[in-house]
Amino acid sequence: MQLSTKALLALLPYFLHVNAQASGSGTTTRYWDCCKPSCAWPGKVNLAAGANAVQTCDIKDQPLSNPNASSGCTGGDAYQCSNESPWAVNDNLAYGYAAVNIVGGSEASWCCACYELTFTSGPVSGKKMIVQATNTGSDLAGNQFDLSIPGGGVGIFNGCTQEWGAPSSGWGAQYGGISDQSACDGFPEALKAGCNWRYGWFMGADNPTVSFTQVACPAALTANTGCIRADDSGAPAPASASPVASYSASPVASYSASPVASPSSSSAAKEPAPTTYSPQPEPVATTSSAAAQAPSSSSLPAAVTSAPSASGGIFLQPQASTITTPVPSSTTSAALEVVTVTIDACEAQYPL
Ligand SMILES: *[C@@H]1O[C@H](CO)[C@@H](O)[C@H](O)[C@H]1NC(C)=O
Repeated sequence: MQLSTKALLALLPYFLHVNAQASGSGTTTRYWDCCKPSCAWPGKVNLAAGANAVQTCDIKDQPLSNPNASSGCTGGDAYQCSNESPWAVNDNLAYGYAAVNIVGGSEASWCCACYELTFTSGPVSGKKMIVQATNTGSDLAGNQFDLSIPGGGVGIFNGCTQEWGAPSSGWGAQYGGISDQSACDGFPEALKAGCNWRYGWFMGADNPTVSFTQVACPAALTANTGCIRADDSGAPAPASASPVASYSASPVASYSASPVASPSSSSAAKEPAPTTYSPQPEPVATTSSAAAQAPSSSSLPAAVTSAPSASGGIFLQPQASTITTPVPSSTTSAALEVVTVTIDACEAQYPL
């Protein structure tokens, strides 16, 4: 199929709108401060129908219904829910949450977005983790993922003393937290599984580096937060993971339906079948060196072909030629973005 340059340029804004996502390389740290996460405040992002800002919990770790409740770290009632702990899906994939700062973005672009991290250093090198952004931090640098791990250090703010009776500067060091798995034994039951995850699946890794790409959120992550971005389905489905969030079929906002108070029942309960993990070709790295090459069709993100709904009358059918277009560098950032689209049957609308 042939498409003229003119036709492609005419279509470009549509593709940029539905399918521009952040990717690049970055760093990780860890924290657990028990405070209301910033993405829990209403109005930060455009939400999908039926979704809500990140769920918070009261001092007893029970879901709060008032999204305007102020943080327990500033005298209010809202705390971070224990189910924002990480868990293992299988040996090579984990799910969790993070405070993030993505170069070139803001909370409007990253709150409740999901990122597939591939660890690139330390004992977990090569493993993947998908995190949903629930928070940010004034102390975060660009492309930093501050993983939410119980016992990871309270950082600037500390709600853990008030909520759980933790030591006055949190468990372990204020930054970095505990330094030995045995400390997890003294944690509240609701936080033990997440604390132990650091020494199990995460192999005690100490701030490993990552490559990352934005993906559509797995439903298992949004089930805990209730938060789904209106544009979430415009991001590619993660290559490594099971069902993505669907806000038409399943009512994600029904927080009470998921067993919130027991992340300790954790991985097995939430993700019963390692068989849902189907190894697939690695997605093409969207780094500068790869930006000029078109990805093979086998690595084409599934969500691209299934999200024509916002096209305003231009219906792009799946499966034909693949076009990769670097985003104009006016977006400045170090996080190079790449747009991948699949086009077919355009000739019906665009005779060439
Ligand atoms: C939260 O506060 C905002 C701004 O004051 C308000 O518009 C909204 O109705 C409040 N939401 C609830 C559930 O009280």
